[in-house]
Amino acid sequence: MATLPRIEDFDDPSYDPFKAEEGVFGDLTNIHEHLVKLRAEKGDVVEGSFMSLMGFDWPSDKPAYTLLSYQTVSDVFFDPATFTNECFQQTLGLTFGRTLSAMDAPEHTRYRRLFQKAFLPQNIARWGDEIVEQVVQELIEKFRHRGTADLIEEFTKRYPFEIIYRQLALPEGDGPIFHKLACAQNLVYTPEGLEAGRKLGTYFKALVEERRKHPQDDLASTLINTEVDGEQLPEDVIVSFLRQLINAAGDTTFRGTSVLLTGLLENPDQFEALRDNRDLLPQAIEEGLRWESPVNWTERTAARDVEIGGVSVPAGATIVAVLTAANCDERVFRDGAIFDIFREKTKPPVIFAFGPHMCVGQHLARLEITRAMNALLDRLPNLRLDPDMPRPVIQGAMLRYPKHLYVKFDPA
Ligand code: HEM
Repeated sequence: MATLPRIEDFDDPSYDPFKAEEGVFGDLTNIHEHLVKLRAEKGDVVEGSFMSLMGFDWPSDKPAYTLLSYQTVSDVFFDPATFTNECFQQTLGLTFGRTLSAMDAPEHTRYRRLFQKAFLPQNIARWGDEIVEQVVQELIEKFRHRGTADLIEEFTKRYPFEIIYRQLALPEGDGPIFHKLACAQNLVYTPEGLEAGRKLGTYFKALVEERRKHPQDDLASTLINTEVDGEQLPEDVIVSFLRQLINAAGDTTFRGTSVLLTGLLENPDQFEALRDNRDLLPQAIEEGLRWESPVNWTERTAARDVEIGGVSVPAGATIVAVLTAANCDERVFRDGAIFDIFREKTKPPVIFAFGPHMCVGQHLARLEITRAMNALLDRLPNLRLDPDMPRPVIQGAMLRYPKHLYVKFDPA
């Protein structure tokens, strides 16, 4: 068996990407209020990047336009010929490399069908039984006897990452280093973000070489051997995808589970209804992800001069699609700023984007959150917010979550 080098930690091992993220992406709270006010004052399409409109010092060498309505955000996702992913080459492309997010058709179409093959429903179901269930149960086992916990630090921030490490059969014990490097990759404008991308790139290149020689029953080996019409993925694309995956699989699902738990625990009547009737879980998950979309905004590049929502936008401009704004647009979601699992069904919320770049992992994410919620409901009787501790506050201007979720339950 070939040996893998150890994953290298940051040059400064005390570096904490979650603290650094506040400096880069801000600790904005009450996002709905800001979005409603901005739309009321300036309309559905506003000149300027979302971050600069929110008062952050945000790098920009191109004109930018921020979209704040359901219609404009959806229209942009469904028109990839006009609104391309070129912008990602100068953002996430700097840390992830040549990955799906930074590609457009026809390259994107070719590689995406290869990746999708690894995420077929039968694979997802198998991961659910063999990996997801084990991980969530093991984590809960560590604190269920105590009767109190911080569900962020002890559960949500850990489980989706642990799942992707096991899907990739990464060495046990290196989780804390992978966790920091994976998350730091979002901080593309910082030296540590670039350091994380570099170190994960070196590691995954060695991993791909090793798994090519010694395939295992893991996702990396599946990606290496996946073939469609005689075509396989080139090595640099696999390495980039692994870098993206270790981030996208963990960072979003962790935040999505955290905001769902916040919505439920802050609304005990809805939580009680779910406890009494687990058939409500799919709609509760959908509502949590709509209410506080874990990916608050994403970007596209205008490939030509174009009009969006009556506003002229020049070719080359960066278009910032604010998912939370689309998902609390009163024209589609009445009282959109309110968490309500019994909300009347209207249009599908823009949680995983629409169009050709719609999230590859959305079915896995839903399965992970379902298993996590069922395990918490089964094993933590009488789960509630801890009245003696601070209440959760969802914050952040890009990727959002509450830093703590202090709870009580009947110890078992
Ligand atoms: C609640 C959890 C998740 C949310 C809210 C989420 C959200 C999103 C969004 C909004 C996009 C589109 C971004 C854009 O087009 O600009 C996306 C793309 C993507 N997501 Fe997710 N995601 C989640 C979980 C996952 C998981 C679990 C995985 C993998 C296991 C994953 C892998 C990806 C990949 C590879 C892409 C790029 C697809 C492409 O460009 O063709 N995501 N996700």
